[in-house]
Amino acid sequence: MKGIILSGGSATRLRPCTKITSKQLLPVYNRPMIYYPLNTLIKAGIKDILIIIAPERAGDYLNLLGSGKDFGAKFTYEVQDKPRGLADAFIIGENFIDEDNVTMILGDNIFEDDFSEDIKNFKSGGKVFAKKVSDPERFGVVKFDKNMKAEEIVEKPKEWLSDYAVTGLYIYDNRVVSAAKNVKPSDRGELEITDLHNWYLKKGELDVAIVSGEWIDAGTFDSLLRAQILAKEKLQEKLVI
Ligand code: G1P
Repeated sequence: MKGIILSGGSATRLRPCTKITSKQLLPVYNRPMIYYPLNTLIKAGIKDILIIIAPERAGDYLNLLGSGKDFGAKFTYEVQDKPRGLADAFIIGENFIDEDNVTMILGDNIFEDDFSEDIKNFKSGGKVFAKKVSDPERFGVVKFDKNMKAEEIVEKPKEWLSDYAVTGLYIYDNRVVSAAKNVKPSDRGELEITDLHNWYLKKGELDVAIVSGEWIDAGTFDSLLRAQILAKEKLQEKLVI
């Protein structure tokens, strides 16, 4: 299993804090934000990790994280010159992923749960993690039937579909690379990860699990503040880095 942290983007919603640095390097209590998703991967035993970054911030990431040796891991870096969407990560990461399966986590996603078992026990297909939220329109949303079987996943639906957001942690088998190459840009001009979820869902090979603990996409000032409190109150003892 390889790991990818997608940590690009320009984070205009967090200006002026992100004018001179990357969102994922902002402090979340006593660590840079990216330490939390990095912790999720390293705790699950993933040692080979690709960090995808925006060109203007590449030096900052290298200075902070280096080769990965200090974390007992090996870090590889790739530059995403434009935010072309989440599915682009699997195209950028093609050589890195090679013949392996891959777990991707977004650099601004902070989880209370431990996903080590899900990652270690993964065999094939796709596995994503959903969480009930009060603002589903911000996310990819999954509709379940009455047996909690996933029926449909829609990226930022305009009409209410369900309260379950798809969080930013994804486990895929190696077919994700070729599937990503076939994704067409959406109306917002991005290669949507939701298209990959649906590719697996249509084959009956997408497992959608429910996240029980807290989950935060720290992309707004309010969610960033919430992340700080979660980190202070509940995450300190769960961190291995
Ligand atoms: C992205 C994904 C969305 C997912 C979310 C999780 O949204 O497109 O499906 O629910 O991350 O954080 P974006 O950050 O691009 O708005």
